[in-house]
Amino acid sequence: MSESGHPAGRRLTRRGLLAGGAVAAAAAACAPASAAPDTAGRASAGPAPLPGGDAVEPFHGVHQAGVATSPQTFAVFAGFDLRPGTGRAALARLMRLLTDDARRLTRGEPALADTDAELALLPARLTVTFGFGAGLFEAAGAGHLAPRPLPAFKVDALQHGWSGGDLLVQVCADDRVTLAHALRVLVRDARSFATVRWTQHGFRQSPQVRAPGTTQRNLMGQLDGTVNPRPGSADFERAVWVRDGWLRGGTTLVLRRIRMDLEKWDAADRAAKEFSVGRRLDTGAPLTGRAETDEPDFAALGPSGLPVISEYAHIRRARVADPGMRILRRAYNYEDGLSPDGRPDAGLLFASYQADVARQFVPIQQRLAEVDLLNQWITPIGSAVFAVPPGCSPYGWIGEGLLS
Ligand code: HEM
Repeated sequence: MSESGHPAGRRLTRRGLLAGGAVAAAAAACAPASAAPDTAGRASAGPAPLPGGDAVEPFHGVHQAGVATSPQTFAVFAGFDLRPGTGRAALARLMRLLTDDARRLTRGEPALADTDAELALLPARLTVTFGFGAGLFEAAGAGHLAPRPLPAFKVDALQHGWSGGDLLVQVCADDRVTLAHALRVLVRDARSFATVRWTQHGFRQSPQVRAPGTTQRNLMGQLDGTVNPRPGSADFERAVWVRDGWLRGGTTLVLRRIRMDLEKWDAADRAAKEFSVGRRLDTGAPLTGRAETDEPDFAALGPSGLPVISEYAHIRRARVADPGMRILRRAYNYEDGLSPDGRPDAGLLFASYQADVARQFVPIQQRLAEVDLLNQWITPIGSAVFAVPPGCSPYGWIGEGLLS
């Protein structure tokens, strides 16, 4: 299996939508006419965009976009703390406002009162995904529905400043300027309800250098994302989407900020690096196979009688036999500058989506925390859990099922 590509026929362009498609008509019917680029050129797009610039990921649907969506090049995860006194009614106002922003921006239109309307015109597959942390449920008087905190894992070196949060806004796009603008609009509109607790920026290999649907490399040089539920498959449906209760059609997100000690990794030889994961660095093939998609043979023994894929290798420890119980890894790299002696502050924004955190994510993380050769080089320094509500119709808003 490999990471998803663009599902066939789903590639839309902003121009196509604005040219009178049903979606645009429905959306226009529910959104006050206001900020679409006007004929006087108030928010003219300028020269015609390249196809990637005006590509649109649909905002409305049973599920929120940004989970099954083929990963865009850039992501920012913003964690917010609610201001004291922000109760259920205020949360409903906040989510109506943010939903309206997201619905406009993702189709390449400025938000209401957008001060830099031109920056909204190249959606570049923008998605905005909302997640609710335990604090938001408490504030809404629905603490009993809140996602449970993760247990402590012995590898954790968690920093308060990268952990927790009442509200998550995940913004992804193939263009960094589009992303920055969308984040600024959303933060501005959230400001009277919530303060920013952390922002985490990530990036992946762009579609210009690696075709959508192929596996990306992380900053350790590994092909990362090979064994992952494939959108559209029955296993994906079961593994990712919640089937009952108010969260039906939604999912959960565990976001772990995992620092990589790249200087120490540089000092390891290639054989040790490949042994630690159980896969080759060049092709991503399991040590028992030739191609990336070959099934690892965990029973194969080497000349010394020891397993070819170590008992302590990352892929053996992380393996889940039932494909419908796997987690969806939609990770981004981070690189936040250098220390004075030139060491990069780098790692992975490990974003894991699953129907059930306790049954899917926790057992894997527990096994990896117990034993994983990769632990020599990686340290979780941030951790947060969110319920990701279902999507909404053109007439609805995200979180309606909980907050209305
Ligand atoms: C910086 C941290 C990490 C790095 C560099 C890393 C790297 C990798 C690599 C290179 C692979 C093999 C290719 C693939 O299938 O994607 C892999 C597989 C996998 N990883 Fe990680 N990983 C990290 C953290 C984690 C964490 C925290 C979890 C879960 C708690 C996890 C779960 C998995 C799973 C489920 C697989 C697929 C295993 C299989 O069934 O073959 N990884 N990882």
